This record gives sequence, structure tokens and C-alpha cells, in this order.
Amino acid sequence: MYAIPCAAVLALCGLAVHDGSVSASPASVATRDDRGVRPDTGASTMDGVYTAAQAVAGSDVFAAYCRSCHTPTVHSGPPFRGKWFGRPVAVLYGYIRREMPKNEPGSMSDEDYAAALAYLLKVNGMPAGDMSLPADSAALHRIRLDSVRTAPAPRSVPK
Ligand code: HEC
Repeated sequence: MYAIPCAAVLALCGLAVHDGSVSASPASVATRDDRGVRPDTGASTMDGVYTAAQAVAGSDVFAAYCRSCHTPTVHSGPPFRGKWFGRPVAVLYGYIRREMPKNEPGSMSDEDYAAALAYLLKVNGMPAGDMSLPADSAALHRIRLDSVRTAPAPRSVPK
């Protein structure tokens, strides 16, 4: 039942979230988060970088703190892919942690942000694995948010 929170939220947020063109203002994201910089390794979110349990916890976090403003679908369409895919997971983690929830940025624990992010990976069709998604920017910098498993430009020839 989101009718009442949504009405309140719309006054805050305008229609940006609902027309599918939610803008994280790409230009400012770029300057703050070094858009285009390749992560250190070829690890990708297709390699199983969160656990199933973490994504379940993340779906609760999302329901409690995020869904009043945007449905998970908003975070899996072409605009979302265009903005975040190919970049380190750390960039999206940093953004969510710094800017969301919009009405109270930075108010959640790092673990809850990581869980919410794990849930978003799941919504994007990325597989769960044995290791939790770390609540650690340096570690997240080494994982590429992507729908392909292999690194785009392998640096060494396989043995
Ligand atoms: C009070 C409303 C509100 C809440 C609550 C909220 N958001 Fe947002 N979110 C927005 C708005 C508005 C934008 C558009 C960008 C902006 O205005 O800064 C946005 C943008 C985003 C984006 C970028 C969108 C894209 O397609 O790239 C992500 C990711 C995101 N939010 C995740 C979250 C997560 C995760 C939570 C819960 C922890 C959350 N938001 C809670 C209002 C909200």
C-alpha cells in the first residue's frame, strides 16, 4: 500500500522516477566517480558475487527504504544498463550510499546498502554465488557490473 507515501514522495521527487528517465545526472556522476575507468580485474557480476540470502535481505531493505519512490523495474531497464553497466560495482554502491534513500541519504548501514545492491544485481539477472557482496568500496572496485562474464580486453594469453 504505497498510495500515501507515494503522494508525499512525488511532491519531493517530481515525476523523474516514474517516467523511466530517472536522472542521476550522468555528467556529475562522471566527474565524481571516474566514469569509464576500468576495474582492476576481469571479475564481473556474472561470476556470482553475492549470496542468495543477501539478495533476500536486500529485497526487504528495498521494500522498506526504496520502493516507496521507485520499483525495482526502474533499475533494470535500458537507461539503467546504459548508465551503470561496464563500470565498477563500486560506482553504483558509492552512488546509492551517498544519494539514497533520497529523503535521507546515507542513513542505512553499509551492510544494508550492499544487500540492496545485491538485490538489484539479482533483478538484473545476475547469478548468486558463494560469497557475499562486500560492503567495501575497494573490493567492489575490482568487480565489473556487467552482463558478460569475460573481461572485454583480456590482458594475458591463457596458458
Ligand atoms: C524519497 C524518494 C527516494 C527513495 C526513498 C529512494 N530513492 Fe533512489 N532515486 C530517487 C530519485 C528522485 C532518483 C533520481 C536521481 C536524483 O534525483 O538524484 C533516484 C535514483 C536512484 C538510482 C539511479 C537510477 C538509475 O536508473 O540509475 C538508484 C540506483 C537508486 N535511486 C537506488 C535507490 C535505493 C537502493 C534506495 C533505497 C536504499 C532508494 N533509491 C531510495 C528517489 C528515491
